[in-house]
Amino acid sequence: MLSLDVRIPKKEYKIYLQNGLYNCMGELLEGFVKNKKVCVVSDTNVFPLYGNVVEEAVKEAGGDVFSLAVKAGEEAKSFENLEYLCREIIRSNFTRSDVIIALGGGVVGDLTAFCASVVLRGVTLIQMPTTLLSQVDSSVGGKTAVNIPEGKNLVGTFYQPKAVFIDTKTLETLPEREVACGMAEVIKYGAIRDNSLAQKLLTGEYEIGEVIKTCCSIKAGIVENDELDKGERMLLNFGHTLGHAVENYTGYGTYSHGAAVAIGMCAITKWSENKGITKKGTYNTIKLLCEKYNLPTQIENLDKMTGAAMHDKKRSGNKISIVLIKQMGESYYEKVDVSLLNEIAREV
Ligand code: NAD
Ligand code: GLY
Repeated sequence: MLSLDVRIPKKEYKIYLQNGLYNCMGELLEGFVKNKKVCVVSDTNVFPLYGNVVEEAVKEAGGDVFSLAVKAGEEAKSFENLEYLCREIIRSNFTRSDVIIALGGGVVGDLTAFCASVVLRGVTLIQMPTTLLSQVDSSVGGKTAVNIPEGKNLVGTFYQPKAVFIDTKTLETLPEREVACGMAEVIKYGAIRDNSLAQKLLTGEYEIGEVIKTCCSIKAGIVENDELDKGERMLLNFGHTLGHAVENYTGYGTYSHGAAVAIGMCAITKWSENKGITKKGTYNTIKLLCEKYNLPTQIENLDKMTGAAMHDKKRSGNKISIVLIKQMGESYYEKVDVSLLNEIAREV
């Protein structure tokens, strides 16, 4: 089994990673769930696939388990579901020493983590991510959220899990569109921090568990330095500002988050390469990677979409942080005038 540490002072935790982990994690879980009440939160797609094996593992580890499932989809990240989860959990006579497990993709992960951070003012949370995106990104680092009509992820907390259990076998049932979505974030890690990861992705010669471990280790390193997203963590938003503009303008769900991020990564790198900020050939590498993993690389009328950036969390006053690549694996962020986004969108 692969494991790695997230070393946030006083909030250290481990990420465990193995193909088939859910079938052999009973002993590992014991330290977290023995003699505890355990609520597994999942969604209507994931629970029928993996709910049973996780419940059995919790029982084997001495936990008293019950489960709740929300309707699958982004809409599940709502105040309504947050209230539903909190009330069901309280009704079960949950105590502060009990445990919540988030079993699903980033939607279940963000919603459940938010619930764990506020119910009884905070209970133990374990993340069991089942999508590529959640395995390489959202299950690590402690961002929790629900959406409101004014925008996505605008209400939430920072709350670290006590452990992350990644069973890569769950990816076997993941729809293609969701695999591509996760690959956009994997490409992002290659672009911002790890050229050798990018090269492996280009050749296609890699083992997915190793790739996930590399991504988690990059994310862990960044979050250890900047848990509360005030500096270095912004690098994780490479391609995301323009990506959010695409998602917002076209209507959430038209382009998957990963597809929108791919368009954003390509657009900003094409612009920065034209300006001489980025080493020649970098745009082509990112474009090739996106094409290889079934992601779009451009969109018509991007300049009409950038108005959405006014509501971006990364904006303060008229300034917004953007992430730029010097060359594959080397990135930095800087605050720029929001209007620069229009310029970028017009020029690419
Ligand atoms: P998701 O949770 O909606 O999952 C995608 C779809 O796949 C859903 O229909 C789900 O039911 C299904 N599914 C999940 N696992 C499956 C499996 N193993 N087999 C078959 N079907 C499966 O989407 P996602 O892409 O995992 O997460 C997106 C969310 O993550 C967004 O809300 C985004 O804001 C959030 N996010 C959070 C962070 C963070 O740091 N907290 C980072 C990135 C994204
Ligand atoms: N996915 C961005 C972050 O965790 O900061």
